Amino acid sequence: MLFRRVVRLACGVAGGSALLVAAAVMSDSAAGGSGELAPGGRPQLWSALAVVRAAQPWSWRNHSVETTSGSGWDDNWDKRDPASLSNGKKADVNGDEVSTELESSKPKATRHIFLIRHSQYNLSGNGDKERTLTPLGREQAELTGQRLASLGIKYDILIHSTMARATETAQIISKFLPGLELVSCDLLREGAPIEPVPPVSHWKPEPAQYHEDGARIEAAFRRYIHRADPKQKEDSYEIIVCHANVIRYFVCRALQFPPEGWLRMGLNNGSITWLTIRPNGRVALRSLGDSGFMPPDKLTRT
Ligand SMILES: *[C@@H]1O[C@H](CO)[C@@H](O)[C@H](O)[C@H]1NC(C)=O
Ligand SMILES: *[C@@H]1O[C@H](CO)[C@@H](O)[C@H](O)[C@H]1NC(C)=O
Ligand SMILES: *[C@@H]1O[C@H](CO)[C@@H](O)[C@H](O)[C@H]1NC(C)=O
Repeated sequence: MLFRRVVRLACGVAGGSALLVAAAVMSDSAAGGSGELAPGGRPQLWSALAVVRAAQPWSWRNHSVETTSGSGWDDNWDKRDPASLSNGKKADVNGDEVSTELESSKPKATRHIFLIRHSQYNLSGNGDKERTLTPLGREQAELTGQRLASLGIKYDILIHSTMARATETAQIISKFLPGLELVSCDLLREGAPIEPVPPVSHWKPEPAQYHEDGARIEAAFRRYIHRADPKQKEDSYEIIVCHANVIRYFVCRALQFPPEGWLRMGLNNGSITWLTIRPNGRVALRSLGDSGFMPPDKLTRT
C-alpha cells in the first residue's frame, strides 16, 4: 500500500528524533520530582492540596500528582504558546512589528480529535498479523463508523496504528466516511506507556518494555496532540484509530493529569474518546470511551 509506505517514512523520521527527546524528558521528570513546582503558583490551591494530600493514602504522596497536576495548568504544555515563541525578540525597538508577528503566530483554529479504540479481535491469533477482528469486532467497527458518520462532521483525516486490528477497524470505519484519507503510523501501536499506579498483578511488562514503548507513545502524543498550527484557518476534525493504552495515556497527558493513572480508566472496544484543543491550548475531554451508540449485546471491554 502506497500510503502506508509514505506515511511510515514520515513517522520514522519524526519519530526517530522525537524518541530521544521523549526519553530524555521522561527520565528527567522521573528524577525531577517537585522541581517543577513553580513559585508564584496558586497559594490557595496549594494549601488546599496539602490538606487533601494529608488525608490521602500513601499513593498520593509519592507519585507525580505533585509534578504534573499540582502546579495548575501549564499553558505552554505543547510548546506552541505564541507568548513563548516570541522569546529573544526586541519588543522595545519595533513594538508594532513584534505584536503583528505575535498575532500571526497565534493559532486561530480548534482541533477536534476522535480517538477510537479498535474493535474486538481474535486473541488466539499468533502474532499481530493473525490477530484480526472477530465477526463481532467487525460489527462493532461498523457501528462506530455509522456513529461517526451520523455526527454530520466533515472529517479531515483518519490516522491509524499499523497493527492489524487497528488497520482493519480503520478500513471498516472508512466505508462510512467516503473520500476520507487514511494514513497509518507505527508510533500509535499498542504498548506499555508508563508503569501504572497503583500497580496491578495481572499485567507486568518488563522495565525495558516501558522504557521503549513509553518513549514511543510519548512521541506519538507530541506528534498528534497539540494546538492547531497558526496557518490552520478552519477547525479540524481528525480520527485516530489506535489502542486502549495509547488512548488512556493521551487523555492523562492532554488533561495534565498524572500519566501513571492511565490504567484507572477502561475503554470499550470501538468506543469514541473526543478531545478538543482550543487555539489558546485549553483542552476539553468531550467524551471518554463513548460506546452508548452500541446495543448492549455488542459491547465488549476486555
Ligand atoms: C512513598 O511515600 C512513603 C512515605 O511518604 C515512603 O516511605 C515510601 O518510600 C514512598 N514509596 C515510594 C515508592 O517512593
Ligand atoms: C477489546 O479489544 C481487545 C481485543 O479483542 C481485547 O483485549 C478485548 O477482548 C476486546 N474486548 C472484548 C471483550 O473482546
Ligand atoms: C483465531 O485464531 C486462531 C489461531 O490462529 C484460529 O485457529 C481461529 O480459527 C481464529 N478464530 C477466529 C474466529 O478467527
